[in-house]
Amino acid sequence: MLPLVAALTINQLGKSFGELRAVDDVSFEIRTGECFGLLGPNGAGKSTTISMIMGVLAPDRGDVTLDGAGSTTEHASRRSIGLAPQSLALYDELTAQENLEFFGRLYGITGVALKERVDELLRFVDLHDRRSSRVKTYSGGMKRRLNLASGLVHDPDILLCDEPTVGVDPQSRNAIFGIIESLKSRGKTVLYTTHYMEEAQRLCDRVAIIDQGAILALESVEALIQEHGGQSEVVFSREGQEETTTKTDDPIAQVRAIVEGDDIATLHIRRPSLEAVFLNLTGRTLRD
Ligand SMILES: Nc1ncnc2c1ncn2[C@@H]1O[C@H](COP(=O)(O)OP(=O)(O)O)[C@@H](O)[C@H]1O
Ligand SMILES: [Mg+2]
Repeated sequence: MLPLVAALTINQLGKSFGELRAVDDVSFEIRTGECFGLLGPNGAGKSTTISMIMGVLAPDRGDVTLDGAGSTTEHASRRSIGLAPQSLALYDELTAQENLEFFGRLYGITGVALKERVDELLRFVDLHDRRSSRVKTYSGGMKRRLNLASGLVHDPDILLCDEPTVGVDPQSRNAIFGIIESLKSRGKTVLYTTHYMEEAQRLCDRVAIIDQGAILALESVEALIQEHGGQSEVVFSREGQEETTTKTDDPIAQVRAIVEGDDIATLHIRRPSLEAVFLNLTGRTLRD
């Protein structure tokens, strides 16, 4: 069990751009050691929320506090947060190693400590072999991995990852999942935004569904599906017969009734996904 300590408390955040309420009364807590997902379509308000958490965008309303230590706009608290922004923050003309050294120096890391940290990070994101190539020669996936590493250069307790898999090949995508899982196993806290429900489902302990600036539901994936996913499908066939599909609120009872007979050829349960949760909450699909 995770300790129920809030690493970050986001309290009634609001931000408008002209008439548009980009973030509308958003509150949630990220617990120490969890991977917290912010799942919503493009334009939902994920990046605006992240910018306010980082203290780089001033909220119209609300605040963000860090483990009781104060507002995230204060310099001291920002050292414990790292950001891998949606729009890559890398220098194309520099090598991977030079990029990380640059960001490390911004945090006051120098000399042997900097060399060691950069070396460790390059290995962690599996770019050590390519450390001396300029970033402009990198694939989208390699850039994303370096972008993650640059958010980790000062070894923060909390990492904010804003859509880290957009424009990434499947192999790098899996590598990024591995990086997030590895951070979690080291006790780090992660905020992960995405519009891919499979990613939230796979990586996140708890997920907030965000749409049009507002949080519609916030729970574990399991609980979200249980409460908002709707019916499961039980698919089965008897020997010599076609497969049939029935929708049910209680798939276990359904299965019990089906297996009374001893002529079952195939049987499986299709549970609803986060896609169904989003559809039921908004009347729209998550896909653009
Ligand atoms: N600087 C800005 N000026 C005007 N509108 C903005 C600005 N930043 C974001 N928006 C708008 O706010 C809404 C939320 O944007 P964003 O937080 O980037 O969403 P997401 O990251 O979930 O895709 C969108 O409608 C977007 O167009
Ligand atoms: Mg965004």
